[in-house]
Amino acid sequence: MAVGVSDILQSAFLTQHPVKMLIKGQWVESASGKTFETFDPSSGRVLATVAEGGQEDIDRAVRAARKAFESGGWSRLTPSQRGRLLWKLADLIEQNADELALLESLDNGKPIRYARSIDIPQAADHFRYFAGWVTKLEGNTIPVSVPNMFTYTLREPLGVVGQIIPWNFPLQMAAWKLAPALACGNTVVLKPAEQTPLTALRLGELICEAGFPRGVVNIVPGFGDTAGATLAAHPDVDKIAFTGSTEVGKKILQASVGNLKKVTLELGGKSPNIIFPDADMKLAIRGAMNAIFFNQGQVCTAGSRLFVHTSIYDQVISELSKAASNMKIGAGADPATELGPLISPEQLERVKHYIELGRSEGAVPVTGGQRPEREQLPGYFIQPTVFDKVHDQMTIAREEIFGPVVVALPFDTIEEVTTRANRSMYGLAAGVWTTDVKKAHEVSAALKAGVVWINTYNVFDAAAPMGGYKQSGYGREMGHAVLDAYTQLKTVWVNLW
Ligand code: NAI
Ligand code: MG
Repeated sequence: MAVGVSDILQSAFLTQHPVKMLIKGQWVESASGKTFETFDPSSGRVLATVAEGGQEDIDRAVRAARKAFESGGWSRLTPSQRGRLLWKLADLIEQNADELALLESLDNGKPIRYARSIDIPQAADHFRYFAGWVTKLEGNTIPVSVPNMFTYTLREPLGVVGQIIPWNFPLQMAAWKLAPALACGNTVVLKPAEQTPLTALRLGELICEAGFPRGVVNIVPGFGDTAGATLAAHPDVDKIAFTGSTEVGKKILQASVGNLKKVTLELGGKSPNIIFPDADMKLAIRGAMNAIFFNQGQVCTAGSRLFVHTSIYDQVISELSKAASNMKIGAGADPATELGPLISPEQLERVKHYIELGRSEGAVPVTGGQRPEREQLPGYFIQPTVFDKVHDQMTIAREEIFGPVVVALPFDTIEEVTTRANRSMYGLAAGVWTTDVKKAHEVSAALKAGVVWINTYNVFDAAAPMGGYKQSGYGREMGHAVLDAYTQLKTVWVNLW
C-alpha cells in the first residue's frame, strides 16, 4: 500500500506533541520540558515539534546505556541472539520503507526517488551486513617465545558509545553508526542532527519493536552545543563517533581529552573528480553530475572540484551545464524531482555566500548561480551551478561548499593534475574517468584520498571501508575496518608451567 504525504503528516508518530526521545526503552519528554521544531525545507512549514534533549537527558541516557552494557540485557545475550536482533531490525526497516522514505524526504528535502531507492534500502542492508559480524568477532592465539605460556587475544566492546550524526543522510548515518557499534557489543546514545531528527526517532520505535533490550539504544534529539557537546565531553562515554563539519570534529577531539575517550571522525571534503580525454564521455558527464548534484551536493564525498583535460574542457563544460540546467528542481516528495532544496535557511545562505564570493574573485557561473523563481519554489532552493574561469587558489576551489556548486578546472598532464588534486587540507574521496587501465591505477595510487572511484562516483556498500585522509577524518566506517573502531583487544597470558 503506497504511503502519501498526508498519511505521514497525520500519522500518530508525527502528531505527538512533542515527538519524544528514547531513553532506557521509554519514550519521554525532555527533563527541561523544552522542545524544538523540525521543518520541511521545500516550504519551510513545520513538520513536527520534538523533545529537545539537554544535559540532564544526556546524563540519563548515558546511565541507561551503561547499565545495559554492564549488567543489563545486552551483555547477557549470546552473539547469535544479538545478530538476530540486528537482522530483525533490517526486516522492519524494509517493511516500513515507503513510510521511512517519505518521512526522510519531507524532513531533509531529498528527492523521494533516491530516498526510496538508496537511503532506506542501504540502511537496512547495513544492519544485515553487521548482523553477520556479531558471531565472527574472533581473537587470535599468539605464538609467543616465552616458554610455557598460552597467549590469546579477545576482541571486546568498548562500552558506551556516543554517536553524533549530521542531517544529509539522516537514517543512513544512523545505520552506519548503530549497526557496527551494536554488532561489536557496545551500547549507544545517538544524537541525530537538529535539522532532521525524525527518521532516527522512527527507527527507535522499530528498535523497540524488534525487541532490543531497554537501554541498549538511546536516542536523544537536540542541538550541537548543548546535547552534542555534553555527550562529547561526558566522563562515562567510552567513545564518540562523529560525522559532520571539520570545525566541530576538532571540538569533539578537544572534548575527548577529559577521559581520553576514543574518537572516530568522518568530516568534510573537497574531492577532485578527474576526467581524461580517453574517458567514455557520456558516462563521465553523467558521473560528474551525480558526483556534485546528488543530494543537492550535500554529500561529504561530493566531487566538487572537476578537473577536465584541456582538450575536452569546452565540450565537457557545455554538456555538463546543459544537463544541469535541465534538472527538475522541486520538493523532495514529488516523484519527478531530481534536485530538492537545501536543508535550511542557514545552508542556503552559506551556499549563496560562496557563489557571490566566487563571482567576486573572478569566477563565472556557466549555469545556475541563482535561487529559482520564489513563487514556484518558496523553500531553500538553489540552482545547480557550474563555475568556469576558476583558479586553484580561489576560495570556492578550496573550501567545502556543501551545495550543488561545482568548480571546473582545466589540466594538461597526469602529474600536474594529481599534484593539484592533492593540494587540499581534505582527502576524503576522488574520481577518475579514463578507459586506460594503467592510467586509472597510476592516478588512483597518486591520489591522497580514503576512497577513489574509477569510472563511477558516490557508490557505497556496507562491506567497503570509507573514511578520510588528512583533515577529512580519523578511522574508517563500514567493512571489517570499522570493527577496530568499536572493539578493543585484550591479551590474555596463561602460565601453563
Ligand atoms: P555540524 O558539524 O555543526 O553538525 C553535525 C552534527 O554535529 C549535528 O548533529 C550537530 O548538532 C552536532 N554538533 C554541532 N556542534 C557540536 C558540538 N560543539 N559538540 C557536539 N556536537 C555538535 O554541521 P552543520 O553546522 O550542520 O553544517 C555546517 C557544514 O558542515 C556544512 O556546510 C558542511 O560543510 C559540513 N557538514 C559535513 C557533513 C559530512 O557529511 N561530512 C555533514 C554535515 C555538515
Ligand atoms: Mg527538517
